[in-house]
Amino acid sequence: IILCLTIFANVFKTVKPDGVQRKLVGEIIRRFERKGFKLVGMKLLQASEEQLRQHYWDLREKPFYNGLVKYMSSGPIVAMVWQGLDVVKTARKMLGETNPADSLPGTIRGDYCVEVGRNVIHGSDSVQSAQREISLWFKHDELFCWEECSEHWIY
Ligand code: TYD
Repeated sequence: IILCLTIFANVFKTVKPDGVQRKLVGEIIRRFERKGFKLVGMKLLQASEEQLRQHYWDLREKPFYNGLVKYMSSGPIVAMVWQGLDVVKTARKMLGETNPADSLPGTIRGDYCVEVGRNVIHGSDSVQSAQREISLWFKHDELFCWEECSEHWIY
């Protein structure tokens, strides 16, 4: 189901190692569930540096790239795929800005972290990168297309 219709999309999200260590996984899942998005894939994993280099390929020239890869591979992360109407765009708003200092209270980064290099969560920045990231981190049979009984109260 890495299908991506124009309005209904999947987004890839990761609770980063600091988010897992700080026990924020439940809180983060709760926010997306309560919003009305549907969890279609999730796993706890230790990412390899190789996978992370691919994931952050676009940032390979940046001075913080090596540090970012080290931090992201320093402990387990929780990889998730969420589905819903405009989920990519909305999830970015729920995450806040890249730098927690620029993130408003009420956003995940605005509420739970202070430094850009420890910003707790990743979320795909476009439908296209969501598709790329989902196929990097998940196999087809690890994603589930299930019917949510409350769906007609949301759409
Ligand atoms: P980026 O893709 O620009 O941000 P986002 O995660 O909001 O999509 O950058 C990826 C990660 O790189 C970011 O979450 C934290 C890290 N980073 C730094 O450590 N220092 C920086 O100056 C920037 C811009 C990002």
